Amino acid sequence: MKKHLLKMSDLSREDITNILNLADQLKYERAHGITHHRLAGQTLGMIFQKSSTRTRVSFETGMYQLGGNALFLSSRDLQIGRGEPVQDTARVLSRYLDGIMIRTFEQKEVEDLASYGSIPIINGLTDYCHPCQVLADLMTVREYKGQFDGLKMAYIGDGNNMANSLIVGGLTVGMKVSIACPDDYRPHPDVLAFAKGYGDSFSITNKPVEAAAGADVLFTDVWASMGQEGEAEIRKKAFEGYCIDDSIIEAANPEVMVQHCLPAHRGEEITEKVFEAHAAEIFDEAENRLHAQKAVLVKLMEKQAQ
Ligand code: CP
Ligand code: NVA
Repeated sequence: MKKHLLKMSDLSREDITNILNLADQLKYERAHGITHHRLAGQTLGMIFQKSSTRTRVSFETGMYQLGGNALFLSSRDLQIGRGEPVQDTARVLSRYLDGIMIRTFEQKEVEDLASYGSIPIINGLTDYCHPCQVLADLMTVREYKGQFDGLKMAYIGDGNNMANSLIVGGLTVGMKVSIACPDDYRPHPDVLAFAKGYGDSFSITNKPVEAAAGADVLFTDVWASMGQEGEAEIRKKAFEGYCIDDSIIEAANPEVMVQHCLPAHRGEEITEKVFEAHAAEIFDEAENRLHAQKAVLVKLMEKQAQ
């Protein structure tokens, strides 16, 4: 496994399996009151340039449960927010901390932190990708379906950070992946190039029902991501019809599970009815952020594992 988790394609299928196996074990241990302070004495810095509920709380609580400490570092308060270069921030923070999780806009900022710093860097969401979320998503799919091979994942909506990481993650673990998005909102070209290598296992269309046909897992995400609030009205029009509703559920496998990284906009990318009918799976997915993030922290930061 690489030293950092900067994007989904940093992980091989074997890496993902190892992380998910550890996440399952940590989930079991937490349910049975078993604690191991595998990161005792270590500190994770968490830099946030965007809002967060799940990512912040799962990493912060996860570090505490592993015997370590987490620092919430809002970019509003850091010198980085006043223009101190990321190259300098990386070298300074590497002298104090044992790892950094960062949520920001540009992927390059995360990559720069990794190149200039000397400690593990974890991507907690950029405009390009959201690998930590997709590890929790894959954990939940495996929990419900038992395995990945031959399963079909369909993603309906914006070709955003979630779509990018789901495509890479889903294909890497052996799922078929189908995307439905408007022509002007396709996933990142690098991700489409990656998917091309998987031949017929990947398809992309602008027809949601076509993508959903026979799907075992349906994913969606908001139409306007953080930083795109100003485009919300234009996007509402562009994404009309890209909603997980009864017609999408009917097109899918009768046993379909529905996943949403949250926060959700009911009545936009998913109907209230479908959301509530699949709430158990969606909130298991949210819970699994904790276990999956702890597994990532242990894999990247545990001293004897390096
Ligand atoms: N899904 C997710 O990353 O949620 P937050 O924005 O609340 O962290
Ligand atoms: N695509 C969303 C995901 C939030 C977890 C965003 O970037 O805002």
